[in-house]
Amino acid sequence: MSEHPARDAASSGPVETNPYGGAAASSGPKRVRTRHFQNAKREGIKITGLTSYDQLTARIFDEAGIDFLLVGDSAGNNVLGYETTLPVTVDDLIPLTRAVAGAVTRAFVVADMPFGSYENGPEDALHTAVRFMKETGAHAVKLEGGERSREQIRRIVQAGIPVMGHIGYTPQSEHGLGGHVIQGRGEGVKQLLADAKAVQDSGAFAVVLEMVPADAARQVTELLDIPTISVGAGPHTDGQLLVWTDWAGLTIGRVPKFVRQYANLSGILSDAARAWRDDVESGVYPNAEHSYE
Ligand code: KIV
Repeated sequence: MSEHPARDAASSGPVETNPYGGAAASSGPKRVRTRHFQNAKREGIKITGLTSYDQLTARIFDEAGIDFLLVGDSAGNNVLGYETTLPVTVDDLIPLTRAVAGAVTRAFVVADMPFGSYENGPEDALHTAVRFMKETGAHAVKLEGGERSREQIRRIVQAGIPVMGHIGYTPQSEHGLGGHVIQGRGEGVKQLLADAKAVQDSGAFAVVLEMVPADAARQVTELLDIPTISVGAGPHTDGQLLVWTDWAGLTIGRVPKFVRQYANLSGILSDAARAWRDDVESGVYPNAEHSYE
């Protein structure tokens, strides 16, 4: 898409190097920056994001022109074998984030701050954010909560670290919210708008709206100057984000209603594994072509 400000900016101008020694260190396109999120909202051009937890998908999504990659604590359910995101630690996410940040040349990489790493107050939050920035090469951090997280967001932003907010359904509060419950319905829209305003006023550069009605997300998007990113919040936001394993058909079990699957990787890998097993068992693989003389 040639009119995409983030993508246009990415294909021209001086080459920036990657201080962490990733692929961008030699040559390549300019990075997406927080200002490109702002430009996209102003120009009415949609921002795209996917989660990523490893260097292989990060490279593929980066080359496909996805604007930002979130190393989400959804790694808990998708990589680490937990049932929820609650057990995920900073130490779990640091190597995954480093792998993603080191593999991209253009995409903006957001590190998710896991449960327990910022709730204790602004200084704890800053400590966690600094770890992600120093140890991974991420370009921003994300944390959950609107009004309740305003001091944490403010402190991190004061230190020069961009923050992506996350309101609506916040998975780290699953038990407090009574399960996977849509937020911002009926009277709940008032709290959603208050949370959105708190996130913006605290200095965040963008905010994720998860599992809220489309009309509530539209109201938030109209209220805010910073871009809104939908995960199950309908089409009236400034951008869209999905968990890549849901989107690519790799997730085991039920995927949320808001996910459209763009591939069936589970089926492809399963077919490949069965075919390979059959070939090994029948002696078809390896043959001379796949053997050394
Ligand atoms: O961890 C994650 O993937 C997330 C998104 C669902 C917003 O926080």
